[in-house]
Amino acid sequence: MTENLTEVIAHRGSKGTRPENTIAAFQEAIDARSDGIETDVHLSADRQLIIMHDEKVNRTTNGTGLIVQKTLAELKELDAGYKFSPAYKGERVPTLDELLDLLITEKFHGVLNIELKTNKISYVGIEELVTETIQKRDLPFKVIYSSFNGESIRKMHELNPDSEYAKLFKTAYKNAMLMKKSKLIQGIHPSVKWVKRHKYLLPNVLIRPWTVNAESDMVFCFNRRMTGIITDYPRKAMTIRKEIQGG
Ligand code: G3P
Ligand code: MG
Repeated sequence: MTENLTEVIAHRGSKGTRPENTIAAFQEAIDARSDGIETDVHLSADRQLIIMHDEKVNRTTNGTGLIVQKTLAELKELDAGYKFSPAYKGERVPTLDELLDLLITEKFHGVLNIELKTNKISYVGIEELVTETIQKRDLPFKVIYSSFNGESIRKMHELNPDSEYAKLFKTAYKNAMLMKKSKLIQGIHPSVKWVKRHKYLLPNVLIRPWTVNAESDMVFCFNRRMTGIITDYPRKAMTIRKEIQGG
């Protein structure tokens, strides 16, 4: 991307216009020329890295129950598109490896933001597995890691001290500031509501608020040249960014 433009990061692929965290959503994020893609990872019963937002499959698929209690084969039987729209019937639950395959095939050169979803279930060893999965690939794009769980970031940082990290938070920013001070993270990913209530820019920290969907919020972030926005509508965001920042 052009230097100094605010990165447009497609939340869960392109959640607003495609079934979230599916290959269809990631493909749309790529086609919209998003600078980045955000996604969420969990661990299945047979220790595969699964791309989904919730701990349970209920909301986004035709199944019920926890990811951690299902095998990859069981998860692959689920339909992850139909509930969003019958037009996406047949979309499957992807693995992290399958997402990486797509990004490599599509020659993606942006930023992949992997969120470790360890704030509700502590998936033992997920940090090692993510590290292994990323390290065994020769990726032509940058990976940044984020989590609401500071402990997960600490573990990832120990395994990959040279990677970039960001602490997620809705309003509780103190822990993030401490982590920044101790150089565990370079960035913060706060809710856009929090950012609007704190209308100052913190020095020397990368800020990528979520979920920046309303046009007024996009304008707010683009006008302040924030590092990035995480949005369900990357295509719309790219258009608005062009109006404000050019590029
Ligand atoms: O990474 C930003 C955002 O994804 C954090 O919240 O719940 O959508 O994963 P959530
Ligand atoms: Mg997320």
